[in-house]
Amino acid sequence: MGLVSAKEMLEKAKAGKYAVGAFNINNLEWTKAILETAEEQKSPVMLAVSEGAGKYMGGYDVIVGMVNGMLKDLNITVPVALHLDHGSYNGAKACIEAGFSSIMFDGSSLPFEENIEKTKELVAICKEKGMSIEAEVGSIGGEEDGVVGMGECADPQECKQIADLGITMLAAGIGNIHGVYPENWPGLRFDVLDDIQKETGIMPLVLHGGTGIPDDMIKKAISLGVSKINVNTECQLVFAAATREYIEAGKDKQGKGFDPRKLLAPGAAAIKAKVKEKMEVFGSVGKA
Ligand code: 13P
Repeated sequence: MGLVSAKEMLEKAKAGKYAVGAFNINNLEWTKAILETAEEQKSPVMLAVSEGAGKYMGGYDVIVGMVNGMLKDLNITVPVALHLDHGSYNGAKACIEAGFSSIMFDGSSLPFEENIEKTKELVAICKEKGMSIEAEVGSIGGEEDGVVGMGECADPQECKQIADLGITMLAAGIGNIHGVYPENWPGLRFDVLDDIQKETGIMPLVLHGGTGIPDDMIKKAISLGVSKINVNTECQLVFAAATREYIEAGKDKQGKGFDPRKLLAPGAAAIKAKVKEKMEVFGSVGKA
């Protein structure tokens, strides 16, 4: 199956009270590990690409080519959306042009009126192309690709205004942050999430900063309308730990252990295990 918009998978997730994982990709190993796990678990999945990762991989055309090639050569049958993560206005347009099936326009740092105007314009383009579009209100805290957000909570009224523009999914800050949570993190603001869902109804809600949120909080968030959960740092951490273990055990110095196909294999296996674990917690296993 070729790339699909995230609309149908997220509407089903919202109705079925589970969430689809959006896992950030950085290279071929990441992409293959996530796609293989989704296929094994019969789970819908979203491959998320930040603008920084897009640049790192050589550009959006490289990514579209790689992902489409994998869907075909690995015989992936589950629904897969290729999604721009935290896109700028120009980044969103470039990904639409390159053949992504989904974009996020993150106008959360802009004046609200400008966020509305730009989101509205991109909604019209995505509608015409059959693509899904995510918008954001209330910036997510933490640091991502040099962009630092302070983690404010979204205003439910503003959420409704953006949701009414015809977007597919809405990211709203509810005290979540990117990266590892600090020791003294007070947890998700379920009261705010509840108010947002009351205003936005059946709109699938997006939880960014999935790394390190305890499973019980994830499940509660899903029960309150979260249907897409973003995970990035956790895959990076397990990849780094498995690679470190391989090197520290001296395996790169045994036989042809320096061959990148061997050297990167433990990290790829660690990503697969982490993605499977997340799909189980999110409830998306068997939902493809
Ligand atoms: P984490 O890196 O905290 O998992 O966040 C991922 C994310 O929200 C990407 O948009």
